[in-house]
Amino acid sequence: MFTERLQNAINDQINAEYYSAYLYLAMSAHFESKDLPGMAAWMRMQYEEEIIHALKFFDYMNDRGARVVLKAIDAPPVEFGSPVEVFEEVLAHEQKVTSLIHNLYTLAMEEGDYPTQSLLQWYIDEQVEEEKNASDVLARMRMVQDYPPGILMLDQELGARPAPTPPAQAGA
Ligand code: FEO
Repeated sequence: MFTERLQNAINDQINAEYYSAYLYLAMSAHFESKDLPGMAAWMRMQYEEEIIHALKFFDYMNDRGARVVLKAIDAPPVEFGSPVEVFEEVLAHEQKVTSLIHNLYTLAMEEGDYPTQSLLQWYIDEQVEEEKNASDVLARMRMVQDYPPGILMLDQELGARPAPTPPAQAGA
């Protein structure tokens, strides 16, 4: 049975994914304002990634005949720090999302909801990737943080990040 408690928790997670999208869009605007178009583009791809995460939960709720309830999305910050500080924030945020997904999985186990556990497996794997992407960029950003030509090279490289593939097309 798809319990109301679990449905409510998934609706909250849809909101958390949209907040993540909003946060990365705000970071994209920040980098645009700092003339770092590659980092802005990387954040915009991350924004799109989060929309995919939200919609996957949205579709799942509908597939199971549950009622999606969209809630207000909190405003993200306007001001951010240096590129290193922004990517530290990205990593910390993804670690927080990972714990939200793990809590959801624990709840799905408590409720004996096997389909939701199966769905969440995709998100658990995805969070490993999300944290890895953020920490890889952060590590390299730290190496060049005091060397402007290095920042510009990294900016160019981050701008080449491809658009995310929706899970249906990826076969997930
Ligand atoms: Fe939806 Fe970046 O986790």
